Amino acid sequence: MKRIFSGVQPTGTVTLGNYIGAFKQFTELQHDYDCVFCIVDQHAITMPQDRLALRKNIKSLAALYLAVGIDPEKSILFVQSEVPAHAQAGWMMTCIAHIGELERMTQYKDKSAGSQGVSAGLLTYPPLMAADILLYQTDIVPVGDDQKQHLELTRDLAERFNSRFNDILTVPEIRLPENGARIMALQDPLKKMSKSDPNKKSTITLLDDLKTIEKKIKSAVTDSGTDVRFDKEEKPGISNLLTIEAALTGQPVKELETKYEGASYGDFKASVAKAVTDHLAPIQERYHELVESDELDRILDEGAEKAARIANKTLRKMENGMGLGRKRK
Ligand code: TYM
Repeated sequence: MKRIFSGVQPTGTVTLGNYIGAFKQFTELQHDYDCVFCIVDQHAITMPQDRLALRKNIKSLAALYLAVGIDPEKSILFVQSEVPAHAQAGWMMTCIAHIGELERMTQYKDKSAGSQGVSAGLLTYPPLMAADILLYQTDIVPVGDDQKQHLELTRDLAERFNSRFNDILTVPEIRLPENGARIMALQDPLKKMSKSDPNKKSTITLLDDLKTIEKKIKSAVTDSGTDVRFDKEEKPGISNLLTIEAALTGQPVKELETKYEGASYGDFKASVAKAVTDHLAPIQERYHELVESDELDRILDEGAEKAARIANKTLRKMENGMGLGRKRK
């Protein structure tokens, strides 16, 4: 079976963008692939974090992975810092990455712009991400559109490692969702929906109460026209809402356009809001059952053990390839 790897940062609550871009793909893919999913807490600390909030967010994210439908019998779920091979391989990848290529990453440029005391970790974030992926000899990485550049760098680093040392690492492919690779902010549909958006009305989080979600969608920015039609240039707001409904219901955008022929923007938004709240209600219910359960710790303990077994095999090969330590079998 081909292997899938992906990760999500435990920073704040998961957004509808994270869900459509990443989680939804994960739940679909776990039936046909050997899946490994990670809570990337070491990536989270590239930006300042409150320790208690981080701890809480790690558990909360784990519960969300399960609540959206990740089955621990089928997939491995674990916390990055609990498998030391990630930091070890991350260092090796940092040593073969070039400063210039790291400085060119748009996520680094966006996050460091105008900030004082930017951490070195923010710059070396992508080689750690490459290590996450490459340790599992991953074939496919399901992510949203914003991770494309990091994935291209991961492929370059894997190829560089293989050509300098030994052909050890699998060069992974990216997989974007058909619908919703980039969900946009509700109040500014030219910008990506993001956890860190200061305008809370722009972002739907998976744990927002259903009434709040309905309100946020009803107040989403649209445009001055009247017809509900997919046109990213002319109607970015309407197109974003159509994408959300299509991703959550599985109905093609074309069919939705026919369904909304003659409908007002108000009716359209009410219907999108219903599609979103119908989809999220059972996820929220499962989340609340799981978040305080002992089961969650058991799953993460087992996940870390299983992940370490796979990761350590690749780590040994990488160390041998690079000549680190003494020769071991
Ligand atoms: P993170 O935590 O920012 O986001 C998690 C996933 O959600 C996707 N995403 C979106 N998709 C569609 N529309 C949006 N508005 C939107 N916002 C976020 C992201 O593309 C991502 O798939 N660097 C990664 C975490 C990571 C990782 C990895 C991912 C670390 N190691 C290894 C894959 C493989 C990140 O910051 O994701």
